[in-house]
Amino acid sequence: MKTRSKLRAKTGAQASARPTKKLAAKPAAKTAAKPAASRSARPGAKAKAKPGRGLFLTFEGGEGAGKTTQIARLARAFEAKGRRVIVTREPGGSHIANRIRSLILDPKMKGLVPLAELFLYEASRAQHVSDVIRPALSNGHVVICDRYVDSSVVYQGVARGLEASLVKRLNDQATGALYPDLTLLLDLDPRIGLARVGTRGILDRMEKEALSFHQAVRAGFLALAKKERRRFRVVDASMSRDAIHAQILAALEAHLG
Ligand SMILES: Nc1ncnc2c1ncn2[C@@H]1O[C@H](COP(=O)(O)OP(=O)(O)OP(=O)(O)O)[C@@H](O)[C@H]1O
Ligand SMILES: [Mg+2]
Repeated sequence: MKTRSKLRAKTGAQASARPTKKLAAKPAAKTAAKPAASRSARPGAKAKAKPGRGLFLTFEGGEGAGKTTQIARLARAFEAKGRRVIVTREPGGSHIANRIRSLILDPKMKGLVPLAELFLYEASRAQHVSDVIRPALSNGHVVICDRYVDSSVVYQGVARGLEASLVKRLNDQATGALYPDLTLLLDLDPRIGLARVGTRGILDRMEKEALSFHQAVRAGFLALAKKERRRFRVVDASMSRDAIHAQILAALEAHLG
């Protein structure tokens, strides 16, 4: 099993923000001890965790909500406590899945019909779960995935208008019904999120969608979180990076502790 850095090299999973001395000295870094004190994050607490099962966390939310930023910080918090962390992302996350990702996000794929888009996401997901997520969980690692099944429920289901039952069925098939232990939803007004990613330069095919599409995505995520209260925690992503990180640690502690 690959650790974070090795996995990134192999799969092209997203780069994490680098730790800095300044960050480490901040109160948020101190609270990083919290997830490791929780049920399955505490070193030596394996007896209480499900056998052969690591901890599976996913981050969801609209474009520019801060998922990648917060995942990097959370990964460091776990690593500081000696946990092995696999940071990965959808679409993509493994060699083959990344090739599918480049098709999905290519701005030249303008005529891609919603059903074909859904199948591509599910194809990427099936490969990624098999190549990366299941093996890592079997080895007892913490897996943090940037987007997962809920993004298809919301983007392809709610926002593109595909049948919810179809999306659910394909999600279940692609993952073998592997669902996260906890899903952190970073909730943000899409106007703020899009302004954040706009500063990155070239927008991908999803980012180029109209504001109404992104508003439907936000509403879809919130409705889903309400429906699946036990698995979701909604985090206010309009705050500072430190405040969001603290909220995430608190949510983890409450859920797992
Ligand atoms: N709390 C915050 N306040 C202001 N800016 C932020 C905050 N968190 C992240 N950012 C900045 O906003 C931009 C988007 O953040 P990030 O890439 O983490 O979001 P994302 O949800 O992963 O986006 P995408 O959906 O495009 O992958 C980055 O430039 C990041 O530095
Ligand atoms: Mg990101």
